[in-house]
Amino acid sequence: MSGAGSKKVAVVAGDGIGPEVIGSALAVLDAAGAQFESIPLEIGLARWKRTGLAMSEEDLATIKECDCVLLGAISTPPDPNYRSVLLSIRKELDLFANIRPFQSQDLDFIIVRENTEGLYSGLEEVGVEESRTLRVITRVGSERIAEKACDLAITRRKLTIIHKSNVLRSDRLFLETCRAVAARRGVPCEDMLVDAAAYNLVVNPKRFDVLVTTNLFGDILSDEAAGVIGSLGLCASANIGSDYALFEPIHGSAPDIAGKGIANPVGAMRSAAMMMEWLEGPEKARRIEAAVQKALEGGARTPDLGGSSKTADVTGAVTRYLGALESR
Ligand code: IPM
Ligand code: MG
Repeated sequence: MSGAGSKKVAVVAGDGIGPEVIGSALAVLDAAGAQFESIPLEIGLARWKRTGLAMSEEDLATIKECDCVLLGAISTPPDPNYRSVLLSIRKELDLFANIRPFQSQDLDFIIVRENTEGLYSGLEEVGVEESRTLRVITRVGSERIAEKACDLAITRRKLTIIHKSNVLRSDRLFLETCRAVAARRGVPCEDMLVDAAAYNLVVNPKRFDVLVTTNLFGDILSDEAAGVIGSLGLCASANIGSDYALFEPIHGSAPDIAGKGIANPVGAMRSAAMMMEWLEGPEKARRIEAAVQKALEGGARTPDLGGSSKTADVTGAVTRYLGALESR
């Protein structure tokens, strides 16, 4: 999969179903003719069990030398002092925008989640009787996520700013900043309280186009959106910074089905498509997406979608469609 002067991708298959879905994503990238040098890294629970460390400084240095990361899923070790490796990478590489597209036959919207601050600030006081977490909203952080959301919304219908400013004063800064950016960019914009957004995602998801929100709200709403679309297994994400990115399916490591060969690889394949788009533009990404679509329509469906296909069946269908698209 490598070529002269090719890009370097750190591949973190991770734990649980991570290695299975990343295997599928790599097969699909290969079938799409993607050229890059793949640098496999063992990071996560398995590594922690072996060495007491889920990720080393050296791993992080290797990651930084690559162009981007493709990640499967990482299980959280049973250690109260453990800090999520994923959160460390997001913070360390300042991957401030978490872009999560949701598409099905009749739905098409994108959640743009602020990815470095809010309730994920890491500023916590933990006590026996009382614990606190500091929710951090900055103007700079709100501005840059609003800009990213507007980059997407400008060629689409509208932007919806999701917040809880009737209760959280920190969200007034988020709301006002996002509104100002949308106005400057000429993007049609509305806003909605997060509880109302959670309700509307279920009863009227078609009303949404591009949603921009703070870290924890985006985390929760994106799992809800995945449920609305049909399965967490279908959904992809891109964690984007100013010159670095990490791509991962939004599902977790699903230890209950690991090793059974039935994990839905579509979220990982779509994450790989987002990676190709970020690395070199939309051409391969569109072909992968079209092949995934055809495979799903052709009935390649894992049990989470009510089907009986295996991970390998879905992978075979998608790579075959890619071959067919290639030879046209
Ligand atoms: C996600 C996940 C992560 C998050 C966890 C694994 C730390 O739920 O990417 O949505 O909360 O951001
Ligand atoms: Mg989540």
